[in-house]
This record gives sequence, structure tokens and C-alpha cells, in this order.
Amino acid sequence: MPVSLPIRLGVNIDHVATVRNARGGRHPDPLRAAEIAIAAGADGITAHLREDRRHIVDDDIARLKERIKKPLNLEMAATAEMVGIAKRVRPHAACIVPERRAERTTEGGLDAAGQCEALRAAVGELTACGIRVSLFIAAEPAQIDAARAIGAPVIEIHTGAWCDAAAAGDDAAAAAEFDRIVRGAARAKSFGLEVHAGHGLDFATAETIAALPEIVELNIGHFLIGEAIFDGLSAVVRAMRAAMDRGRARAGAAGAGTAR
Ligand code: PXP
Repeated sequence: MPVSLPIRLGVNIDHVATVRNARGGRHPDPLRAAEIAIAAGADGITAHLREDRRHIVDDDIARLKERIKKPLNLEMAATAEMVGIAKRVRPHAACIVPERRAERTTEGGLDAAGQCEALRAAVGELTACGIRVSLFIAAEPAQIDAARAIGAPVIEIHTGAWCDAAAAGDDAAAAAEFDRIVRGAARAKSFGLEVHAGHGLDFATAETIAALPEIVELNIGHFLIGEAIFDGLSAVVRAMRAAMDRGRARAGAAGAGTAR
């Protein structure tokens, strides 16, 4: 009976910061979300410091690095600014992602094959600081071969196209995309690369992909934060109801009709 190693869960807390930034204050704090995720079994925390700071900001990264008790995985573009920040903050890991200002999320994988030299330099600088570097790529042979040539020890396979097809109920497209992931993971593993995966995963797709023995880590964000609303809303509405009722009862005890 083959014994497979457990698969790690990296929880991406970007969208806690998205909600916080909608009001500009400090609530909800992504650090608190990270601590809750770790207490619930996350093996690490992932956060994407985008050039436009649309969700996570520099102070979040500094506080996460200082306070969380599990590895921090910094998602970042391979720009001089981000490489400088990573070298200063020294997260456990860095995942290099493509970044376009107009995109809503990281829509596709890196073109590792088309930017070998620039990526080799960034991977080299980060690795020299002891940061474990991964490249976020599609499960395409040319991209996997490029990751190997660049010298990245880890790839993260972009699962977005598979998850989109699965969510749309397009079984043929989902099967083709999943097959691409299966073959890509095997190819990368055969080169000695560590294989991670992420983007768009939900309970069903995470359960399916977790069966692939080559994949040792999944990074999941949007679905978890969205689902947490439904899982948590009932408890916080009850707590608010109770707080209001306590306040009203105090006013009643102090004398009915007292204006404040
Ligand atoms: N992995 C990488 C490299 C990403 O850029 C993202 C999105 O920030 C994720 C995983 C998580 O994707 P999702 O938020 O859709 O779960």
C-alpha cells in the first residue's frame, strides 16, 4: 500500500485586505485572518503584494513576517521593486507571478520561456537570500522546461483554466485541462522540481487535485474567503444581536426613557 505524504495548504489572505481597503481602516485585519487560518490547519500563508497595492500593502507583509508562526509565501512580480522588498523582508518563499495592472486577478501563468534571462536574475537574487522561489506557470511543457532551465526549484501550476471549465460545467474542457495538469505535474517532478498548484480552487477541485502525488502544496484564497462569509455570518449576526440586546437591557435597567 503506497503511503503518500500529506499535501500542504497555503491560505491566501489577499481578499481580507480587499474588504479592509474598501473602507480604508484596519478592519478586517489580514494578520488576524492568517492567525485563524493557521489555527485551523493552514501550513502557510500566502499574500500577493501587487504593484498597485490594491489589497495587501507593505505593512501587512512586514506584520505577517514578524508575527505568523508558519511560513510566509510572498507572491510578487519579478520587478526590481519587489525583489528589493523580498530581499529586505526575507519571506520563507516567493512565488513569481505575472502582473498586469488592468487584470482583476492573476489571469494566466508567467511566460517563463519568453523571459528566461530576467527571471533567472530574479530567481538567483532571491535564492541567494535563502528564499525558496517558485514560478507560477501554466502546465505547458515549454514553460516547465523553461522553469527548469531558469533554475527555479519549484513551480506552481496555474489551475484557473481547469477550475473555470469545471465551474462552467464544461466537462470536456475540464477533462482536457486536468489532463494537461496531470502531465505537467509528472514532467516537472521528473525534472526534480517541487510542484505546487493554485488558482480558482474550491472544495471539489481541491479534493480532485489533491489525489495527484506529484503536487505537494495548494495555494487557495478567493473561495476560502468567500466561503468564510457564509460559514461565519450567522455567528457574527448573532453576536451583534446579543450586543444590541445587552445595550438595550442596560438602558432599561438604568431607567426606562432615559435619553442619552
Ligand atoms: N497561487 C497564485 C500564484 C496566485 O496568484 C493566486 C491568486 O492570488 C492563488 C494561488 C490563489 O488563487 P485563488 O484566490 O483563486 O484561490
